[in-house]
Amino acid sequence: MPLFLGMPVGRTMSAPPASAARVLEEHHQLLDELLATVRAASADKAFAAARGALDWFRVELDRHVRVEEQLMFPLFDGVMGRSEGPTGFRCAEHRQINALLDRIAASLAQDRDSGEELAELVALFETHNRKEEQMFYPLIHRRLADSDQAALFEDARRLLDAPLAGDGGPLR
Ligand SMILES: [Fe+2]
Ligand SMILES: [Fe+2]
Repeated sequence: MPLFLGMPVGRTMSAPPASAARVLEEHHQLLDELLATVRAASADKAFAAARGALDWFRVELDRHVRVEEQLMFPLFDGVMGRSEGPTGFRCAEHRQINALLDRIAASLAQDRDSGEELAELVALFETHNRKEEQMFYPLIHRRLADSDQAALFEDARRLLDAPLAGDGGPLR
């Protein structure tokens, strides 16, 4: 079985309930659902609904990426003693996802279905999230001190649970 930083690849490790990893895993599910909504609406040519769902997805993705890049990754780099490698790859993929989102938003703004780009995004997002859930989050969980774990959990939950600006969400 291949190894990634000492972790066997291909084995699903479920994060403990009160952990930043679990909070982020659950947030991946919300993001998946929003993406599925965008895809279905775009395929139905319900472009206003697709744009609304995409806006909501982007708001949620922004804060998800903020938790990872601003809170979790620096802690990871601290315990691993480096700032490149795994966290660098994750950040590069975040930028790739955002570039794809820009293209999808541009198509939807012109009432054009962006089925191909959406399929590409779903595939990229799935791979990205699987790597995080199977390798990256468990490794962070194993290596961080309990006090750092607890602080990260609280910060992640506070950031992801904060109400959205405006009237409670772009789709409401
Ligand atoms: Fe990520
Ligand atoms: Fe993530």
